[in-house]
Amino acid sequence: MALERSKYLKVRKAQAEGARTVEELKNISDIVIENDTELEEVETLLQNACKCKNVSINTIVEAVKNGADTFEKVKEVTKAGSGCGRCKSIISNIIENKR
Ligand code: FES
Repeated sequence: MALERSKYLKVRKAQAEGARTVEELKNISDIVIENDTELEEVETLLQNACKCKNVSINTIVEAVKNGADTFEKVKEVTKAGSGCGRCKSIISNIIENKR
């Protein structure tokens, strides 16, 4: 079962504000995780930065550490952000925080 849309959006918004763990997510948002299945879905989503191109947070962090210091450079190196573009704020946050 996929995470319900309102929760999905809360996770994505929190990621754009720097949340990378469930604990950080809970500190930033009012999300209520109902059960283990939902927790698993949230954890999986937290590891993903770009859904369209299926690019992980770790891949973006690595790209940033290797010198991709703008959204355009990250996009070029990882392909993240080259679909719908909705992950741009998450990628920008990763560039800013290097995590
Ligand atoms: S989610 Fe990254 S381009 Fe659509």
